[in-house]
Amino acid sequence: MNTSILSARGLTKQYGPTVALAGVDLDILPGESVAIMGASGSGKTTLMHALAGIVTPDTGSIAFTTPTGVVRVDQLDERHRSQLRRESFGFVFQQGLLIPELTAVENVAIALMLGGTPRIAAETSAAAWLAALGLAGMETRRIGELSGGQAQRVAIARAQVTGAPIVFADEPTGALDSRTSADVMGALLHATTGQGRTLVLVTHDETVAARCSRIIRLADGRIVGQPGGVGVPTPPQQVQQPYAPQQLPYQQQPAGQPFLQQPYPQPAAQPYPPQAYPGQATGVVPNGARP
Ligand SMILES: Nc1ncnc2c1ncn2[C@@H]1O[C@H](COP(=O)(O)OP(=O)(O)OP(=O)(O)O)[C@@H](O)[C@H]1O
Ligand SMILES: [Mg+2]
Repeated sequence: MNTSILSARGLTKQYGPTVALAGVDLDILPGESVAIMGASGSGKTTLMHALAGIVTPDTGSIAFTTPTGVVRVDQLDERHRSQLRRESFGFVFQQGLLIPELTAVENVAIALMLGGTPRIAAETSAAAWLAALGLAGMETRRIGELSGGQAQRVAIARAQVTGAPIVFADEPTGALDSRTSADVMGALLHATTGQGRTLVLVTHDETVAARCSRIIRLADGRIVGQPGGVGVPTPPQQVQQPYAPQQLPYQQQPAGQPFLQQPYPQPAAQPYPPQAYPGQATGVVPNGARP
């Protein structure tokens, strides 16, 4: 049985006269890596933001399946959407959106500290993720002291450190040259599907998309070439370490009830012991300063 971790039905979104989403159905399976492609303005970012609870669709439903129940992302109020994003989703953007005043380890640790993890525990986990992504020894550098590819790996570490089961990445390699892009994509896949998590990625780059387990293409706010958008299952070997169910405490949300009845338990300081990124050992990961 293939149970989607994210299931969208009939998503529409209009900005004034502009139709950004014109009826999208999409099922994403746990452990998949899904690349969303399409021309500029075709609705890729809008779709990703709707799935991630950043924007609310005008119509349609988004169900996020957790081991303890289904969360209707489209029905949450802003406070609970924000909580969901912080606790269950990781994000990597084109420019990383890192905080330049903070060091690499602080940029990653902050994701845990926002959830209440004490600083020392958060920085310990953050440093482990940085090391797993080939950045050992660079923990105390500020973002401006890292290359573009290194900074993106800090952003990837930040998206992983909370143990989020789904990572959304909007053109994570868009600002990188092809070699660095391949390196960052390898790190991103290692840190997501390589740990049994799910990756939803927007890209304009066919080479990047080809490394994902599935590509969906948007045109004018619709999925094209794949009726219904409902997924081709990810080959089983893609899922190396299935996502640990006990990590997600969301309860089935009865209609009209508050999203969470109980305070959200803090994530374990290091919910996924990171494994060394292979590039680190082979020297593929460049450790030099910005070229
Ligand atoms: N906040 C907004 N206000 C008004 N129009 C918007 C807004 N966000 C997106 N749009 C419009 O909706 C359409 C889809 O935008 P979206 O950002 O999803 O495209 P995209 O496929 O991600 O494009 P790109 O590849 O350029 O990033 C575009 O016509 C865009 O101008
Ligand atoms: Mg976009």
